[in-house]
Amino acid sequence: MKGILLVVCMVVSGIAQAQDAEKGLKDFYKDYFTIGVAVSPRALKTDEAELIKKQFNSMTAENAMKSQPIHPRENEFNWKDADSIAAFAQRNNMKLRGHTLVWHNQVPDWFFTDNGKPVSKEKLLERMRTHIQTVVGRYKGKIYAWDVVNEAISDKPDEFLRKTKWLEILGEEYIAKAFQYAHEADPNALLFYNDYNEIDPGKRAKIIRLVEGLRKNNVPIHGVGLQAHWALNEPSREQLEQTLSDFSKLGLNIQITELDISVYPKEHSARDPKAEDAKADFSDEKQQKQTAIYKMCFELFRKYKSSITSVTFWNISDRSSWLDNFPVRGRKDYPLLFDANLKPKSAYWEVVKF
Ligand code: GLA
Repeated sequence: MKGILLVVCMVVSGIAQAQDAEKGLKDFYKDYFTIGVAVSPRALKTDEAELIKKQFNSMTAENAMKSQPIHPRENEFNWKDADSIAAFAQRNNMKLRGHTLVWHNQVPDWFFTDNGKPVSKEKLLERMRTHIQTVVGRYKGKIYAWDVVNEAISDKPDEFLRKTKWLEILGEEYIAKAFQYAHEADPNALLFYNDYNEIDPGKRAKIIRLVEGLRKNNVPIHGVGLQAHWALNEPSREQLEQTLSDFSKLGLNIQITELDISVYPKEHSARDPKAEDAKADFSDEKQQKQTAIYKMCFELFRKYKSSITSVTFWNISDRSSWLDNFPVRGRKDYPLLFDANLKPKSAYWEVVKF
């Protein structure tokens, strides 16, 4: 009798495993939130495309919709890459997040100069409006959520807004204006403020202050994007729980927009390589620590499912990640759930085990 029971159990668990292998992250999480991935148009032409279709139901353009690539000169828009990502999402019934309209990085200089001189406030506002309305307008109905303003909060404890050209020329109101223009271009799009270091209590308080201020002034903002570029040593469970609890009290959509977990201790600035950086293997120890952090993050994401509406990974697999060149140029990192052969890592199996 016992023997038969054992065989039955083995068969049943074998079937369950086979079924799990058929499923993707998006299926495991269908009652929780969409699962997204940041992509380049090039990746969509490789074997990574099949992985994307199986595992994810949302996409973000890693670079193609940033102002430098999409609007390189005042009278020139470069739609090719962004269009190909939007078409892939449509063909495969995936949601699409837009990233990002107003940021201090990857923005071309022409925005801020006029015949070799600094641009006037009026002209810059006009350029910002044209940029936002043209880009948002083109993808109206195709992009359901936009990161309207990215990283406007300062990391310095005694500074509220980051000192950028946008702030310098337009003053604080540039943020509200950006949301207003985006809303005019697509009244149905969900509009997000997106930032990093959200687990730091001081930075978090400033992000919340900014968002609450915008809402008080009836600025059309619908969500906060937490980038979630994390690492083996952070966040702790307490830190992440506090972060999600604080943001969920805003009563807006919370989206995890750029998740990755570096296998190196977090460093926030680029630096030159050191001797120990040569040891860049994905050791068992790193793998175990990373698996535990991913497990903990998704436990808490599930706990906050009434606020969290999407979790997006920043890049597809360990084949290539921006972290291979940041903070140390050329140091291989392994921050994602799929290895370089596109096989699920042990972290993947913990993320889907619930
Ligand atoms: C920030 C930006 C992203 C991306 C990452 C690093 O988080 O929002 O667009 O550039 O940095 O690649």
